[in-house]
Amino acid sequence: MQKERHTVNETFAIVLAAGLGTRMKSSIHKVLHPLCGKPMIRHVTDSLRGAGVGRLLVVVGAYAEQIEQELGAEAEYVRQARQLGTGHAVLQAREAIGGLEGHTLVCYGDTPLVTSHTYRSLLNAHRESGAAVTMLTAAVDNPSGFGRIVRDEAGEVARIVEEKDASAEEKRIKEINPGLYCFSNSVLFQALDRVQNKNSQREYYLTDCIRIVKEMGLSVQSLLVADAHEVLGINDRVQLAQLNRVLRNQINELHMKNGVTLIDPNTTYLDITVRIGEDTVIGPGVTISGLTSIGKGCRIGAGTEIESSTLGERVAVHHSVVRESIIADDASIGPFAFIRPNSVIGEGAKVGDFVEVKNSNIGAGTKIPHLAYVGDSDIGQNTNIGCGAITVNYDA
Ligand code: UD1
Ligand code: MG
Repeated sequence: MQKERHTVNETFAIVLAAGLGTRMKSSIHKVLHPLCGKPMIRHVTDSLRGAGVGRLLVVVGAYAEQIEQELGAEAEYVRQARQLGTGHAVLQAREAIGGLEGHTLVCYGDTPLVTSHTYRSLLNAHRESGAAVTMLTAAVDNPSGFGRIVRDEAGEVARIVEEKDASAEEKRIKEINPGLYCFSNSVLFQALDRVQNKNSQREYYLTDCIRIVKEMGLSVQSLLVADAHEVLGINDRVQLAQLNRVLRNQINELHMKNGVTLIDPNTTYLDITVRIGEDTVIGPGVTISGLTSIGKGCRIGAGTEIESSTLGERVAVHHSVVRESIIADDASIGPFAFIRPNSVIGEGAKVGDFVEVKNSNIGAGTKIPHLAYVGDSDIGQNTNIGCGAITVNYDA
């Protein structure tokens, strides 16, 4: 019988996200907490897609609907009704892909900083060596909490031992399992069939597949990750803050290398979705979030908050809050102004101190220098709004 051609050598990914994540103490699933403005799981799925993954399956259980709502049609979903372990979680994907040929990346939804480059390196290493499994490993100073890599006399990976099952000697091993594997798909499901739960946690461990694959007489290869920071996982809000800091530093460095001056990168909070033009200067304590685009040569002063907005070139914003609005070239905002959603501030316009603008169009060259409220209004060009004026529901 002829094989269906489209099933041959596809690249699959299985992302595990069924666990409760109890240590987050949250009514939001752990993998939906944002990291620099993007939910944790999206960092994972975007990197996997970037590495050329075709079918992407997410194993969901606790708060399944939340994850399905976030990712929508971007992934397929497999339910794990009871959380009986990581091996049991992967097994739930059998019905969807168990009979197909290809390579399968398996990873955890709470390890968001792994880059497409690393996933691609893992896939390439796997394809080149022809091994049944290729896994990432990392060398860390403090291995506590991780499974340890046990190697045989030949230096090859023999098995992974979970910390809770490790001997005192095994606990001293500093090469750890970050939880990223590439399996030949058919081997994966054959090995999972043999996994038992005879361990301290009474769980079906995915990690046992490594030993089982060796017992099947097949080869296991490993790839040491260059930067161990990349494979750090998030179990609680302390780690969430730590990884946010790692990513924030990367984002800030990228902007600086692209010609943006950050007066104090340690207190500059830029979402991964933010774009900033050359020669713009960002002061300390600034937060810029959402789909925000800032043009060239702008000055964003200390303490400013800008969310989902578009700023032209040479715009100045000082000590102000701007939400879901558009600010044209050469306009000046603040100090202490509040630009609320759906406002358009025209070219060269000035919105000065203690001015609130809501859902309004402010014409080019118009000045509202101080102490005023403008709501639901269209103000023409080159108008001057006096101190203390309240303008509402009125077309001037
Ligand atoms: C796992 C690895 C360990 C590795 C570590 C890296 C196993 C047995 N151990 O341990 O070797 O060093 O990750 O962070 O795999 N999940 C499910 N269903 C379940 C259980 C877990 O979907 O039944 C998901 C969780 O939501 C989580 C991921 O799998 O995203 C990892 O589970 P977790 O319990 O955190 O495993 P660790 O003990 O950290
Ligand atoms: Mg974990």
